[in-house]
Amino acid sequence: MMMLVVRWNTDKGRDSLQSYPCRNTRKDGPQSNVLVRGCVGYCALGGGRCCFELVRALADSEAGDNALKRLRCSTNAEELRTSDIIIEAIVESEDVKKKLFSALDKITKPSTILASNTSSISITRLASATGRPRQVIGMHFMNPPPIMKLVEIVRGADTSDETFMTVKSLAERFGKTVICSHDYPGFVVNRILMPMINEAFFTLYTGVAAKEDIDVGMKLGTNQPMGPLELADFIGLDVCLSIMKVLHTGLGDSKYCPCPLLVQYVDAGRLGRKRGIGVYTYGKVLYKSRL
Ligand SMILES: NC(=O)c1ccc[n+]([C@@H]2O[C@H](COP(=O)([O-])OP(=O)(O)OC[C@H]3O[C@@H](n4cnc5c(N)ncnc54)[C@H](O)[C@@H]3O)[C@@H](O)[C@H]2O)c1
Repeated sequence: MMMLVVRWNTDKGRDSLQSYPCRNTRKDGPQSNVLVRGCVGYCALGGGRCCFELVRALADSEAGDNALKRLRCSTNAEELRTSDIIIEAIVESEDVKKKLFSALDKITKPSTILASNTSSISITRLASATGRPRQVIGMHFMNPPPIMKLVEIVRGADTSDETFMTVKSLAERFGKTVICSHDYPGFVVNRILMPMINEAFFTLYTGVAAKEDIDVGMKLGTNQPMGPLELADFIGLDVCLSIMKVLHTGLGDSKYCPCPLLVQYVDAGRLGRKRGIGVYTYGKVLYKSRL
């Protein structure tokens, strides 16, 4: 299970705060994002697995050593009771996220900010699962978080200025550049990125070009570090499909209709790098029964 959680002790001062986002890439374990902060990093529901990549990434550094000492993993959400801010990063499903937000609303103290790393789901609707819509906000880290400079902050219909300013300064203390989006499907980045990825699937589906030609064409032709199909594998094809569905339903325009090839790959369990197979094949393929 996975959750990106920050427990934030504001009294320790700015200099003691650092962030070490990382991703669990264990083949046999679930994907986990961990954000460890200088004072008390607190990753809930990770079952300890989330430490794996962190240990590897930071093994040689003193800063990493110190960060590890501040990291706690737990499968007991009750331990989040005293957290100041919680950043949820579970599966991109509105129903599942709403259930978690509703549970966190009951567990946490009234002042806790509940942030979501969602790529596309309405913050306003997630907030409606809680009794604290003023303290619910989107905090969308780009993948991979240690490298990508951007955090897209999404204000729900009732998000307060105070919540926005707190989350903005937190992201800036992580060394990130912040943009602010209103709460409409896909926000800014995925509203533009996902239709491009979907179009790359249509280009492949309709036989215009081979996958390698599509990716090399976009990489060298538009100066992007990854081609769109390669990027889709990196993000996860299920996540891409889920975002396209949100755009299609939320904006009601047929131009957002997911490409049948993307749908078929997800149906087949070809979810991208995390399963060893997507548009491309990577090492050992992990098919998982969804029954
Ligand atoms: N993949 C990306 O590139 C990317 C980039 C930015 C933001 N995000 C967002 O981050 C979130 C996670 O994305 P991902 O690609 O890691 O998704 P994923 O589907 O690969 O992983 C989701 C994880 O959540 C766990 N999970 C499911 N229900 C849970 C629950 N109730 N409590 C705790 N854990 C639960 C699953 O076991 C799984 O390990 C999504 O909201 C996604 O939109 C993803």
